[in-house]
Amino acid sequence: MSPPTLQVRNLRTHFFTRAGVVRAVDDVSFTVGRGRVLGLVGESGSGKSVTGFSILGLVDPPGRIVGGQVLFQGQDLATLSEEAMRRLRGNRIAMIFQDPMMTLNPVLRIDTQMIETVLAHAKVSREEARQRARDALGQVGIPSPEERLRAYPHQFSGGMRQRVAIAIALLHKPDLIVADEPTTALDVTIQGQILAEAQKLCAESGTALIWITHDLSVVAGLADDIAVMYAGKVVEQGPVAEVLDAPLHPYTVGLIGSVPSRNRRGEPLRQIPGMTPSLLNLPAGCAFRARCPRAEARCAEPPPFAEYRPGRFARCIHPHGEAIAA
Ligand SMILES: Nc1ncnc2c1ncn2[C@@H]1O[C@H](COP(=O)(O)OP(=O)(O)OP(=O)(O)O)[C@@H](O)[C@H]1O
Ligand code: SF4
Ligand SMILES: [Mg+2]
Repeated sequence: MSPPTLQVRNLRTHFFTRAGVVRAVDDVSFTVGRGRVLGLVGESGSGKSVTGFSILGLVDPPGRIVGGQVLFQGQDLATLSEEAMRRLRGNRIAMIFQDPMMTLNPVLRIDTQMIETVLAHAKVSREEARQRARDALGQVGIPSPEERLRAYPHQFSGGMRQRVAIAIALLHKPDLIVADEPTTALDVTIQGQILAEAQKLCAESGTALIWITHDLSVVAGLADDIAVMYAGKVVEQGPVAEVLDAPLHPYTVGLIGSVPSRNRRGEPLRQIPGMTPSLLNLPAGCAFRARCPRAEARCAEPPPFAEYRPGRFARCIHPHGEAIAA
């Protein structure tokens, strides 16, 4: 059997700053198989983007991967040269960034950028490549794609630029896409259209997709599996429907409770009390302790990341649900 597209094992990425060591990613593990979608969620500063950058080998000083492994189709990416890694990024692994200008070249017309992308991967004529580029723009909801192809990135609005960056990533048909909140700024209809295109790509091309977001409703509609991050660690992981239906970790319970659509009308929106702890001075034991309604003395010890039910993992010694041995 071929290995899964991506295995992240005990990944740790730290930033060595003047103020101290920021443990941005601290023991993150997950697997994404061919054609599967993993939703990576968590509040601001929980380490989602740094996880994405680490997978692509794009962590800059003062940051550094200090532990763990990233296996792409079974191959440890840490063993690749910078050049081999660059080739992989241009070809088999793509990232859609929060900022589309990290993908787009400001001095090239959109058609040039898109046609080159197609020609790099498919043996087709220039005219056919142009056709595919035009279709790709249409699929992400860009009106008059033929005309827009001749524009430069600065002639697009921010939202349109983001759609072009997404269209380029989809055109690549890479084996793995890491999408870092690319649709947050877009309106709901366009977002839905883009999510549908991403899902289609996964189903048709076997692309494995990691979709980073803080929006649980996006994950609910798009992902097969979910990984919830808190303070640099994955605190819960499992099939998306099961996790949203019966979360184990108190933080996941809080996140779900704070989604407006899940709230009863007229009731104040529930919020998780307290603040995200600073990653510089994390308390010993469970990082969620100060905010957790279920905390007890044992939580002063670091909780293990344990499989509480088949395929259902949580980093908590006192999770929700009846199947828990006390
Ligand atoms: N260059 C850097 N130097 C120091 N600390 C950094 C650096 N980049 C990120 N961090 C820290 O790493 C932590 C995780 O950041 P990250 O960007 O991954 O969060 P995130 O979950 O993507 O948040 P958001 O939802 O706001 O995008 C944060 O505490 C951040 O301050
Ligand atoms: S380990 Fe303890 S403090 Fe942490 S989430 Fe579980 S119950 Fe709460
Ligand atoms: Mg981020």
